[in-house]
Amino acid sequence: MQPQSQAGPRTLLSRFTALTDAFAYPLRTSHYLELVNPLWTTHALQAKVVSVWDETADARTITLKPGRNWRSHRPGQHLRVGVPIGGMHYTRTYSISSAPESEDETFTITVKAIGGGRMSHHLVRNIKPGDYLPIGVPQGDFYLPDANPVEPLFISAGSGITPIMSMLRSMVAQERLPHVTHIHYAPHTYDVIFGQELQALAAKHPRYQLHLIYTREPGETASQKRHFNPEILNSLCPDWGTRDTWACGPQGLLDTVEAHWHQAGVARQLRTERFRAQVAAAPKEVTAGTVRFTASGVTAASDGVINLLRLAEDQGLNPPHGCRMGICHGCDAKLTAGCVRDLRTNALLNEPGAIVQICVCAAAGDAELEV
Ligand code: FES
Repeated sequence: MQPQSQAGPRTLLSRFTALTDAFAYPLRTSHYLELVNPLWTTHALQAKVVSVWDETADARTITLKPGRNWRSHRPGQHLRVGVPIGGMHYTRTYSISSAPESEDETFTITVKAIGGGRMSHHLVRNIKPGDYLPIGVPQGDFYLPDANPVEPLFISAGSGITPIMSMLRSMVAQERLPHVTHIHYAPHTYDVIFGQELQALAAKHPRYQLHLIYTREPGETASQKRHFNPEILNSLCPDWGTRDTWACGPQGLLDTVEAHWHQAGVARQLRTERFRAQVAAAPKEVTAGTVRFTASGVTAASDGVINLLRLAEDQGLNPPHGCRMGICHGCDAKLTAGCVRDLRTNALLNEPGAIVQICVCAAAGDAELEV
């Protein structure tokens, strides 16, 4: 028998707000609801910080309760998180580290403070329970398929563990953990995010084979040997070429992994997730210059390497942006004069009126942008 449809609390609230929107014009009821409880808004998705937990000295897990319009993630996906700092609004993308099977309608992100990372430092040091953060919906195609892979290989380094952790937790929650080989790199034993949980998982489930490799621990092996290389891969996972593989970590690791899979003709079995845009090696001579942000009347000196978004923010500007890695086009701005360089390809752009993704472009000499 088909269940009869019933108007749940959310449906009733939606009907009510549809009615009251007419009286709230030019705002919407959602704007007033935000004053009562930011999680009730519909015009912008927000999440409340429920708890924080320090995983390592510089990595913190933040548990978030999302508001209305949230939809759960697939294990491995990421989302955008906004944070106001000093009157400016910054956005970054973080992988979700919890499994979607959570029963309390919360999810977690795990943030590692990176050198020069304004927002990651703020999230790791200053965010506290009770704070509200604007968030986006889960995105990305780095996730487990509905049918679990038979024998996946996971390769991760540093905070690249976060989407992999979501996958592992989800497979455990579903009691469908297959034979997994997991190679994880960290500088030292004390730097391993989720270290205890991973080791406990390996101890409890013989099907989960964990190989922790410390790249900066003193030992017999030369430091160079401890980074990813084909010999280590062959010895830890001889059948890697037949496995579905997920890799997440810094650019150096992913570049090497991708090249190796490509060379072996099995690139289709590899999925990678990057936290930053894949930038090309800078040309031997980069051209410094002066950048004029015409809409705000601000001028800044550029070394020809710093991306234009960061350059603008360092001047106290707050250009709209999203992913900061050349994907979403949330930072598009018009080039009105001069020349910029795409940091991913080193291609030069000097056509007035051209649209520039300022998060992945730097000035190449003098430039003017409508920012
Ligand atoms: S912020 Fe997403 S493309 Fe620049």
